Amino acid sequence: MAEFKEISPNASVGDKLLNWVDNRFPASKLYKEHLSEYYAPKNFNFWYFFGSLALFVLVIQIVTGIFLVMHYKPDAAQAFASVEYIMRDVPWGWLIRYMHSTGASAFFVVVYFHMFRGLIYGSYRKPRELVWLFGCAIFLCLMAEAFMGYLLPWGQMSYWGAQVIVNLFAAVPVIGPDLALLIRGDYVVSDATLNRFFSFHVIAVPLVLLGLVAAHIIALHEVGSNNPDGVEIKKYKDEQGRPLDGIPFHPYYTVHDILGVTGFLVIFTAIVFFAPELGGYFLEYNNFIPADPLKTPLHIAPVWYFTPYYSMLRAITTEMMYALVLCVVIAAYLGVTRIKMPSALKGAVVAAAVIVMGLMLKIDAKFWGVVVMGGAVIILFFLPWLDNCAVKSIRYRPDWHKYLYAIFVINFVILGYLGVQPPSPIGERVSQVGTLFYFGFFLLMPWWSRLGETKPVPDRVTFTPH
Ligand code: HEM
Repeated sequence: MAEFKEISPNASVGDKLLNWVDNRFPASKLYKEHLSEYYAPKNFNFWYFFGSLALFVLVIQIVTGIFLVMHYKPDAAQAFASVEYIMRDVPWGWLIRYMHSTGASAFFVVVYFHMFRGLIYGSYRKPRELVWLFGCAIFLCLMAEAFMGYLLPWGQMSYWGAQVIVNLFAAVPVIGPDLALLIRGDYVVSDATLNRFFSFHVIAVPLVLLGLVAAHIIALHEVGSNNPDGVEIKKYKDEQGRPLDGIPFHPYYTVHDILGVTGFLVIFTAIVFFAPELGGYFLEYNNFIPADPLKTPLHIAPVWYFTPYYSMLRAITTEMMYALVLCVVIAAYLGVTRIKMPSALKGAVVAAAVIVMGLMLKIDAKFWGVVVMGGAVIILFFLPWLDNCAVKSIRYRPDWHKYLYAIFVINFVILGYLGVQPPSPIGERVSQVGTLFYFGFFLLMPWWSRLGETKPVPDRVTFTPH
């Protein structure tokens, strides 16, 4: 137990109160460690706004969510009407609802930018692997949260979107049908499904999410932030042990982040007040029609933030399986011929490849589509161990790395676009190439990240006062 600190009887009431609290709870200690004496690199740029923005959007979602739950009815017979009631009759209900629906899309915009920052500055690499892993787990939770939340308004898209996605689980061999039944709680999406999704959306997933966000930030503050140069500021410290290139988070970055929040709010409020549906991308038009289990909409598409993955799912046709089998053959051949390993291991690699190919040809392509869709997110967890480049930040990597990252982003956007469109032969082919590129980018990273000439990395961060 920490020593009990006495305070002068002449101290102010505020100081006495703080001393009383500090003797029982580490309030000042936490404030110092995480704010006033947390030294962050002085060269943060635009990309560093998105962590605090993600926190800000999290708060918006929780606060607006609490007010929505006060009026929403998680009942298949009343859900749609209760949302209309919120929109028309509850004072300010429309604002709360639009903030929550826009907030969902804003969350993904912010988190995609935040993840991209991690990618370009190598923030996932040693010693920040856990920061990244917690981040990936957050991303998974966020997807689950958005997916389950989307069922709640009980519109046509809510209903049929959930039907399509839950049915995918039925494609898992052996346990699939029972798994889908367990998720739905019924043979079709129904009131039972709505109740369990509601329960997960309002309490289970947010609790996990909050825990993960806390772990994410604690892990980050343990190792310290990375920066656009990808150099460790803890290498050079002054006599008091403060990093020479670090500045206290508070007040410098609290003020800096307020600027980010202000810019964000300009865009966010413009959408909330003037275009809350955003052309059907944030709120799909079909979702203004109450769910009808007897009428399947002509075209079912998930909300934009899921569409890159949805495209990858649709890309996996029986024909595509042959291309994937070919990839396994090439990978096994290269593994056996190019990597030094004992001959027993070589035999095991060949045997494993043959088994995988057998399964790929035997099990329905729909199942492999699900594997590819899930794999597209799971692969992110492995990023810290896939990147072999000698330097962290894109600034000091060979120029062509920049182009490769640009193509990666363009490819992701194209996949997203195709996921919104109805299926077409050309769209299918493009998404197949896009899927191969997406996985190739990560799976071949151990090889390509080593190629090319890196630029000299400065010893200290580069910074020009402004
Ligand atoms: C609710 C979602 C999230 C919240 C609230 C959040 C919050 C934060 C905050 C406040 C920071 C420090 C400020 C900054 O560096 O921008 C941070 C850093 C970081 N986050 Fe997140 N984050 C979230 C999701 C994610 C996701 C999905 C990933 C990656 C998959 C991720 C990866 C990282 C990394 C690698 C850093 C360290 C960056 C650096 O030091 O350069 N975060 N996060």
